[in-house]
Amino acid sequence: MFKVAISPTKITRSTKPVRILHSPQELSGAVAQLRVLGQTIAMVPTMGALHAGHLSLCTVAKQRADIVVATIFVNPLQFNNPEDFAKYPLQMDRDIQMLESEGIDLLYAPTVEAMYGQAFSTNVHVEGVTDVLEGQSRPGHFSGVATVVTKLLCAGRPDIAVFGQQDFQQCAVINRLVSDLDMPIEIVIAPTVRESDGLAMSSRNIRLSPPARTESVCIFEGLQAAQHLFSQGETNPITLIGTVEKIIQRSSAKIDYVKLVDAETLQDVATANGGSVIVVAVVFDDVRLIDNLVLA
Ligand code: PAF
Repeated sequence: MFKVAISPTKITRSTKPVRILHSPQELSGAVAQLRVLGQTIAMVPTMGALHAGHLSLCTVAKQRADIVVATIFVNPLQFNNPEDFAKYPLQMDRDIQMLESEGIDLLYAPTVEAMYGQAFSTNVHVEGVTDVLEGQSRPGHFSGVATVVTKLLCAGRPDIAVFGQQDFQQCAVINRLVSDLDMPIEIVIAPTVRESDGLAMSSRNIRLSPPARTESVCIFEGLQAAQHLFSQGETNPITLIGTVEKIIQRSSAKIDYVKLVDAETLQDVATANGGSVIVVAVVFDDVRLIDNLVLA
């Protein structure tokens, strides 16, 4: 934990260095020692380029366990487009500073070699929930996610793992995976953190051009308009989806999909219920943004 020292002119934080682990064996060993001491473990998997959204996952993790293990690994298996992998922002020093000022205990940051090795030949594929939405636009993406998350959870064996609701389909895939494989791990879904104008925080936002960044607020505006209609009794998916689409169409974004789906199966629903989810994917120039809202 950091201490805050207040002087008349500035606030400085004295931080404890995060302990960095580089291989699955180091991670398993460190966690085993903590377990002997009776400590509970929360894992926060990330691909780095941390922002306030990730830090909110760390806050949730800290509230729920004695020790927080953050992970930073840009997972090549989940990029169906090699250019996206090459362009993925890397800022390890800054990420480490951010984790230290959050008082995070352990950081697991393996190399690709340490994660997969030369002969790696296993692919974890979750069926059903991966066939729709992002699964259609990004073939192979969720197998890459499921494979790396399985490896992270097996090596770290946390009591809980925290993921952000912003990637709703990823949460559904991980819930299915953990349940199907009888992993004794609680998956905690933390609420989406938004910029002050409503744009969901994402590492991709920095790639938006200034005009696209201004226009991107239309996604949340559309979702809120649908929520408003639902609160007034509208349950027809065509009307709710149409409302979101109309608002997004005022911008330069290309809509990939706007759908109203069941929260668990991600299949289209015929009538909106409290708990149904509106999921959205749009592209501004070459930047793909996703967002969602669980109707209440
Ligand atoms: O959400 C992410 O950052 C990644 O998909 C995850 C869960 C860390 C797996 O690489």
